[in-house]
Amino acid sequence: MAATDLERFSNEEKRNLALGGHVGFDSLPDQLVSKSVAQGFSFNILCVGETGIGKSTLMNTLFNTTFETEEASHYEHAVRLRPRTYDLQESNVHLKLTIVDAVGFGDQINKDERPIVDYIDTQFENYLQEELKIRRSLFNYHDTRIHVCLYFITPTGHSLKSLDLVTMKKLDSKVNIIPIIAKADTISKSELHKFKIKIMSELVSNGVQIYQFPTDDDAVAEINSVMNAHLPFAVVGSTEEVKVGNKMVRARQYPWGVVQVENESHCDFVKLREMLIRVNMEDLREQTHTRHYELYRRCKLEEMGFKDTDPDSQPFSLQETYETKRKEFLCELQKKEEEMRQMFVNKVKETELELKEKERELHEKFEHLKRMHQEEKRKVEEKRRELEEEMNAFNRRKVAVETLQCQSLQATSQQPLKKDKDKKN
Ligand code: GTP
Ligand code: MG
Repeated sequence: MAATDLERFSNEEKRNLALGGHVGFDSLPDQLVSKSVAQGFSFNILCVGETGIGKSTLMNTLFNTTFETEEASHYEHAVRLRPRTYDLQESNVHLKLTIVDAVGFGDQINKDERPIVDYIDTQFENYLQEELKIRRSLFNYHDTRIHVCLYFITPTGHSLKSLDLVTMKKLDSKVNIIPIIAKADTISKSELHKFKIKIMSELVSNGVQIYQFPTDDDAVAEINSVMNAHLPFAVVGSTEEVKVGNKMVRARQYPWGVVQVENESHCDFVKLREMLIRVNMEDLREQTHTRHYELYRRCKLEEMGFKDTDPDSQPFSLQETYETKRKEFLCELQKKEEEMRQMFVNKVKETELELKEKERELHEKFEHLKRMHQEEKRKVEEKRRELEEEMNAFNRRKVAVETLQCQSLQATSQQPLKKDKDKKN
């Protein structure tokens, strides 16, 4: 199709038509529901709060069951994320629930929230990798992305710790945070009221974005906006059943009375359950996908060099990005090759120079030795000549001495004869 045809096609007005009778596509929402039900749902909760703050008890209370729990020690070397997945079923709805505990949080001297951030990012990365595969299986992919972070605030009645603010600030662009005041039965009503106001004002002044229950859907707008004003929820957890009147209720029993978990005048547990599970579970899942994952994906793809528009703000397709990246890569490769070649040439030149220098040194050494040898030879020659001269002189002296000796011998042998002659005469 030519570009102009395409433009005309997309600009064409949509016409409304009345149907002559029942066609059946009004069953699409039902088809969607039954498909989703058959597929099942996954929901992943991250519990962040100091050791022993009541995380496991609250999870057990929320889902009215007993999850596997292990008490954390206060002597962990670092914060460790411990995910546990459970298959739950209510009516015909299957829920794959993962509860991730930030074990050891708040116990380290080096208060580091990085393991939590890394864990959340790893789940996003796994999903992105699945999405980028050629053969994707997102339909039966076990989505481990964190849908909500329940942030357990210690009920000091004072103010938030800097660790709480730093951690929530680091997490707020990655996950939906619902702050809750744990063990709310340990703080008085008036203190709790002031504590809630203080927490909210500290969160606002530090720019921490907590999850807001959505108010754009008319069906839940009212309840959600009322509940937004109740944040942070002050909760009490207990799996213990206590008899109140003639009913057994979940409560914590004290010498002075009973704190009922599901009594709204005692704590906000019911509000939390309502908001987290019964009204906004799907919104939490959706926000995770459309906001937090989207942000991660965008940053990651941009980091990898993918863009939607070119420098002139014109649409830039994946194909074009790929081509540009390929060209950039080839240029880079060529540059690297050239650099390496140059490096090699320089190295060869350097080695050549070094070898020449060595040769010159050797040559000098050789010349020096040669000179020394000639000098030595000359000296030996001179010595030899001197010796020869000495020998000649010696020989001459020897001959002279011998001659003299001979002469004297002759002289001595002639003397008796002369004497005899003289006697005869
Ligand atoms: P770790 O996993 O070891 O970090 O602990 P946790 O945060 O899971 O705490 P857990 O649920 O094991 O509870 C620790 C203690 O606090 C237990 O003795 C609970 O009974 C008690 N506890 C839990 N919730 C509440 C609560 O709402 N109020 C009070 N007063 N105590 C609570
Ligand atoms: Mg626990």
